[in-house]
Amino acid sequence: MKVEIVPSILSADVGRLTEQVEEAEAAGADRIQVDVMDGHFVPNPTFGPLVVQAVRKATSLPIEAHLMVERPELFLEAFAKAGATLIEVQVEATTSLYRTVQTIKDLGVKAGVAINPATSIEDLREILPYIDLVNVMTVEPGFGGQNFIPHSPEKIRRLRAISADIEIEVDGGIDARTAPLVVAAGASVLVAGNSVYGYKGGVAAGIRAIREALG
Ligand code: DX5
Repeated sequence: MKVEIVPSILSADVGRLTEQVEEAEAAGADRIQVDVMDGHFVPNPTFGPLVVQAVRKATSLPIEAHLMVERPELFLEAFAKAGATLIEVQVEATTSLYRTVQTIKDLGVKAGVAINPATSIEDLREILPYIDLVNVMTVEPGFGGQNFIPHSPEKIRRLRAISADIEIEVDGGIDARTAPLVVAAGASVLVAGNSVYGYKGGVAAGIRAIREALG
């Protein structure tokens, strides 16, 4: 199973965003994630479509727009037009998840669903056949550099038992210590913010540390 590393720009130096994205691509990142937050669904406003547009200009890598926002259905076209390859919505944030997923796909963009640590994977059972990716949040979303929630690998295993082929992404507290735990449980797409953009040896060393930990 190919494991993909997806630096998220939440911990990047936004004043040097183009350079930081280029560094990640040069270091072998597989995708870039833009952590979109509205300050309501999570207590921290961050980026909008303009930042996805800027990242789109900086790299040819796939871009994931992770919408940690209430009523994400209001913003899907804006992020698709900005250049997102995949749009992730939080299962807790929309009352019409089936329609939201269909709208994303009608825009020609891949559809992902993210679930928070206290949300059951049973809430995904009906939507699984229609989506490209599940993001199992391994922290409570809102901030970079948080601690990995220890029960996450068991939750990933339960999701993998429900679906043998869904792409499982993890997001939050992923580093050289936790990456092997989540990959062994069935995850193959690793979002990494602080362990890449906050790594003392720099972006390339941060990505290398995770890859080496995976062997
Ligand atoms: C939600 C954000 C973060 C970020 C990764 O809080 O989406 O999870 O992507 O953060 P790190 O890798 O710094 O824990």
